[in-house]
Amino acid sequence: MSKTQLFDLDGKIAFVSGASRGIGEAIAHLLAQQGAHVIVSSRKLDGCQQVAEAIVAAGGKATAIACHIGEMDQIGAVFARIQEEFGRLDILVNNAATNPQFCNVLDTDLSAFQKTVDVNIRGYFFMSVEAGKLMRANGGGSIINVASINGVSPGAYQGIYSMTKAAVINMTKVFAKECAQFGIRCNALLPGLTDTKFASALVKNDAILNSVLQQVPLKRVADPKEMAGAVLYLASDASSYTTGVSLNVDGGFLS
Ligand SMILES: NC(=O)c1ccc[n+]([C@@H]2O[C@H](COP(=O)([O-])OP(=O)(O)OC[C@H]3O[C@@H](n4cnc5c(N)ncnc54)[C@H](OP(=O)(O)O)[C@@H]3O)[C@@H](O)[C@H]2O)c1
Repeated sequence: MSKTQLFDLDGKIAFVSGASRGIGEAIAHLLAQQGAHVIVSSRKLDGCQQVAEAIVAAGGKATAIACHIGEMDQIGAVFARIQEEFGRLDILVNNAATNPQFCNVLDTDLSAFQKTVDVNIRGYFFMSVEAGKLMRANGGGSIINVASINGVSPGAYQGIYSMTKAAVINMTKVFAKECAQFGIRCNALLPGLTDTKFASALVKNDAILNSVLQQVPLKRVADPKEMAGAVLYLASDASSYTTGVSLNVDGGFLS
C-alpha cells in the first residue's frame, strides 16, 4: 500500500504574505516541505531572505520578494514579477495583517482605522484579485485567507481589527462563489491565540493570558506550526471539494 499523494505540492508555486515570522513562516516551511516553490513575502526583504535561505538549506525551493500589501502599487509590482519569473501562481496565502491600536472602540483613531482597513481588507482583496487572474489563466488554484476567531467573536479592545477579520470571512465566500467556475477554491483559516510577536501583548501578560485560556478548552495557546497543517490541507488536493469554509484552529474557543 502506497502513502497518499493528496498533500503533495510538487510543481506548485505558492505565495505567502507575512512569511518572515510567526504563522506565515511556519506555513512557508510546510508548503515548501511538501514540494511547493514558496514566494516568501513581507514588507522587509531581510526577514524574508532569512526564511527563504532556511527553506533552501533544508532542500526546498523559495524566493524572497518584499511587498507591503497596504500599498496598491506594491501589489501591482509583485504580481508583474510573479508573472514574469514564474508565469503562474497556484496557491495564495493571505496571511499578513495589522492591528495597530488596542483601545476601547470609542477611542479608535482615524489613522489606525484606515491602516487596518487598507491592509486587512483592501490588501487581502486585491491580492486575491491579482492571484485569481493568474489562477484563472492557468485553470485554477487555491486561495487561503488567514482571518481570526475575532472575525466571529470580537476580541476586547480590538474593534476595527475584529471587523476587518469578519470582512475577510465574507470575502472568502465571495471569491469561493464567483471563482469556482475558474477552478479556484477560496477558504479561510481562523486561528485562535497563537504564540507570535503579533500576540505578544496578550501572551506575555499573565492576567490577560489566564482570562483568555479560561475560554480555550485545550487550555493553552497555539504554536505557529499548529496553523500550518490546516493551510496545507486547504492548499492541496486533499480539500478539492472544499470551498468557502472557515476552518477554526482555536483549541475549541468557538465551539
Ligand atoms: N497570533 C495570533 O494569536 C493570531 C490569532 C488570530 C489570527 N492571527 C492572524 O494570523 C496572521 C499572522 O499573524 P502572526 O501572529 O503570525 O503575526 P506576526 O508574527 O507579527 O507576523 C506578521 C507578519 O506579517 C508581515 N507584515 C505585517 N504587516 C504587513 C504588511 N502591511 N504587508 C506585508 N507584510 C506585513 C510581517 O513582516 P514585516 O514586518 O517584514 O512586514 C510578518 O512577516 C495575521 O493575519 C493575524 O491577524 C494571529
